[in-house]
Amino acid sequence: MLACLDDLRDRARSHLPRFVFDYLEGGAEDESGLRRNLHALEHTLLLPRALRDTGRVESAVEVFGERWARPYAVAPTGFNALYRPGGDAMLARAAGRAGVPFCLSTASNMRLEAVRQQADASLWLQLYVMSDRGIAEHMLARARAAGYKVLVLTVDVAVSGRRPRDLRNGFRVPFKPSLRLAADLCRHPAWSLRQLFAPMPDFANLAAEQGARLSTQAQAALLARAMDRSLAWQDFAWLRRHWAGPLVVKGLLHPEDARQAVAAGADGVIVSNHGGRQLAAAPAAISQLPAVLEAVAARVPVFVDGGFRSGADIAKALALGATAVFLGRPFLYGLAAAGEAGVDAVFDFLAQDLERAMILCGARSPDELRGLAGLPPASTGF
Ligand code: FNR
Repeated sequence: MLACLDDLRDRARSHLPRFVFDYLEGGAEDESGLRRNLHALEHTLLLPRALRDTGRVESAVEVFGERWARPYAVAPTGFNALYRPGGDAMLARAAGRAGVPFCLSTASNMRLEAVRQQADASLWLQLYVMSDRGIAEHMLARARAAGYKVLVLTVDVAVSGRRPRDLRNGFRVPFKPSLRLAADLCRHPAWSLRQLFAPMPDFANLAAEQGARLSTQAQAALLARAMDRSLAWQDFAWLRRHWAGPLVVKGLLHPEDARQAVAAGADGVIVSNHGGRQLAAAPAAISQLPAVLEAVAARVPVFVDGGFRSGADIAKALALGATAVFLGRPFLYGLAAAGEAGVDAVFDFLAQDLERAMILCGARSPDELRGLAGLPPASTGF
């Protein structure tokens, strides 16, 4: 019986080989950034109002002229074929059914055109800019041609975070056979069989950019090492020349960066510490949300991600003033546990939970939640 998100997580954990679950679940360094996200949300409280007519509750929001049926969407995550072959299309279809966008990662295992073909959803593309800027330019042209709506520029991966679980498990691409890996696979026959009959995943979008020139190994190396660390706010003009649609900056925590993003022409920001996978010492995203909102002063939508595990968590971000929330791991738990139906189940849990939280808070809409959340005093020193 799947009664809540934790049940799906448990099922994902038992279905996946350890090195895959650890890749999904893990964080950087001592994983304190990961824990901080969860802890900060736990300590952010909702202050309910009583006897307000909540006969009808509506959580839809409007973002860049599009209606989202719910105020949360699927965050970009790389390597989704690890959980299920075709994982990106499964996530995108489930997002389409839920009436919200799906954001495809640069490090996806499906070509962006294939996801477009296989899913009826509003699609966003997340971009990592690598030293060879031609890769980004061409990927953007493809995304535009395929009808992707919004570009998300991730700015917190100038270098990859150090993830001890992956190092310990010897997790690398392509997989190197080892006794330990073989034992892990034997303990998870359903996953292993499913992957055996699927083409070995590669970084399909990068591969498409490089033709046959790059092996999967070289693509992985490109992703790991070739981030363009010279990228700076001035380069926004370059991006703008290649992307006319809405452009969202993901991975900001400092209010001054949010101000700068808006000044540089960003159409939105995602407050995020990358789910605790980059700089472990970074503050929780929810803790920085109020300062970023103040800096942005309602000029563009402000989104947040990191550690959201329930509808009540989502209500907290909305109550603090976020336009909407992104979630990463929860949808991956669903995907790994039960494929597309599992992703639908996560959407269902979140919808029921958010509606209940709104009713209990006396709020008929995200707007009516505003002001009903409180962060712990001095939750960060900033
Ligand atoms: C990520 N994230 C991420 N972000 C991004 O911009 N590009 C990417 O390719 C990835 N890849 C990725 C893989 C995995 C397995 C995870 C868990 C996360 C970060 C992601 O977009 C988001 O910021 C976090 O997942 C949010 O935290 P929660 O919801 O997972 O706690």
